[in-house]
Amino acid sequence: MYQNDFEMPKSVYLLNHSVGRPLKSLRQAFDERFFLPWQGSGREPWGDWLSVVEDFRAQLARLFNSEARLFCPQVNLSSGLTKLVQSLPRLRHPGAVILMSENDFPSMGFALQQALPEAQIRFIPAELDVSLPEVWQAYLTDDIDLVFISHAYSNTGQQAPLDYLVPKVRQLGALSVVDVAQAAGVLPLDLSVLEPDFILGSSVKWLCGGPGAAYLWVNAEQLAHCSPQDVGWFSHENPFEFDIYHFRYHDSALKFWGGTPSVAPYAIAAHSIGYFAELGANKVRQHNLMQLQRIWNQVGEALVSPSDSARCSGTAILNFGAAQQQVVEALTQADISLDVRKQGMRISPHIYNGEQDMQRLLEALVPFCR
Ligand SMILES: Cc1ncc(COP(=O)(O)O)c(C=O)c1O
Repeated sequence: MYQNDFEMPKSVYLLNHSVGRPLKSLRQAFDERFFLPWQGSGREPWGDWLSVVEDFRAQLARLFNSEARLFCPQVNLSSGLTKLVQSLPRLRHPGAVILMSENDFPSMGFALQQALPEAQIRFIPAELDVSLPEVWQAYLTDDIDLVFISHAYSNTGQQAPLDYLVPKVRQLGALSVVDVAQAAGVLPLDLSVLEPDFILGSSVKWLCGGPGAAYLWVNAEQLAHCSPQDVGWFSHENPFEFDIYHFRYHDSALKFWGGTPSVAPYAIAAHSIGYFAELGANKVRQHNLMQLQRIWNQVGEALVSPSDSARCSGTAILNFGAAQQQVVEALTQADISLDVRKQGMRISPHIYNGEQDMQRLLEALVPFCR
């Protein structure tokens, strides 16, 4: 029934790790929240527009069970990560140590290397399964300053063991940053329970909220320790003070905001995140796991992502070895939308992928499954 809420193509759409489908109600909501304040009256639209961004933060707070003031809009994760690490004096000294995985999204590694050229980045090798606490354990040494963790890894379908990692990183006296780009909307995350130091995320994938509406969340305990370098009048405690000699950081996560903000992406995303906050990530995950289970049951050894609900992301990664190209062609022929990475093809069932979609997928796979 959820498929009625979304604009769905004729194909079986399983690319939710890339771009989620738009809600049918989105055009009207966007018109009302973005165009109407601009076109529909002679007033200056900023009051209405800024309340749209407030709503974006409020919907994120509902989704992740936290406070709106701890969220700051960002254009994308890469830029948010650059701003974040440059704001932390602890990371700006030569030899600061950062731990991450070779399976993190490459852009995150690029941003860290360029923003902190004197830091030492230690990579957990790509072949190690980062869904296992014992793999992390071997790398969590007491000289680390920052641990970068993806809640879900986009190409391996692994889920990081956050409940183990976040307290462990804190115990070591290091900082944690969790990348939720590939998890937000499908893997439940309660920030008031987990309490990492920072999270970075976007809205374009499972949250179906389009590109350009990313966000940085800062733990209340960390706010005072952050001194963003990339600022603008919206990072000021009072943007309308207009005294060029007097900059004071905003006392919320908005200290990371910058100059005149964009509004349109947040108008789109706030509407969609509101839908998913209302539905609840548990419901999406339950449905996702049910569909994943059916795929796991059928494909046998072709499954290269974990088949354990605590260790898998929302995506099944399938690799049929020598037959891989043939399988991809057969699925494309059957009008099934998916994509392929080195590790395997990526298949991501969302709340709107119902019985018919699953039957079409599983039938197309039958000739290749023993
Ligand atoms: C885990 C993960 N992090 C980050 C990103 C994107 O980062 P950015 O918003 O900087 O493009 C992606 C995109 O696919 C991703 O899968």
